[in-house]
Amino acid sequence: MASYKLVNFKTLGDERGSLIAIEQGYNAPFEIKRVYYIFDTKEGVERGFHAHINLKQIAIAVKGSCTFVLDNGTKREEIKLTNPNQGLFIEGLIWREMKNFSFDCVLIVLASEHYNESDYIRDYNKFLEVVKNVSCIS
Ligand code: TYD
Repeated sequence: MASYKLVNFKTLGDERGSLIAIEQGYNAPFEIKRVYYIFDTKEGVERGFHAHINLKQIAIAVKGSCTFVLDNGTKREEIKLTNPNQGLFIEGLIWREMKNFSFDCVLIVLASEHYNESDYIRDYNKFLEVVKNVSCIS
């Protein structure tokens, strides 16, 4: 199954400022095996350009903003992450590209699996082929 959705995390705040907690099984619907973050992205840089076979991820622009291009093989959509209380949940065969990183963007990603290059599809035509084959089977 391939899907993505933008979720809002509850912000716990008081006069000192804000805090967001992400907990496995509560507002993160998978076991978190890996966390990575992208920062200091140079102006005009576009990243990603891949899909994953099995990985589940939640991406959060904890500072600054960036735009995700999400493609399920049929439809392309752009989602801009602008707020640390927004999480972009991505599951299954979704081609993703990231662009328009603000100079201060810190994009943190929570992932359901350890880094595994064999879970990546980095060729767009191969991605379309895999999507087509999966939809024939299911
Ligand atoms: P890359 O896949 O090019 O990043 P993006 O898709 O965001 O543009 O990853 C850059 C490098 O970092 C590449 O050599 C793989 C490595 N890497 C890890 O070692 N562990 C990780 O968890 C990730 C996401 C990347």
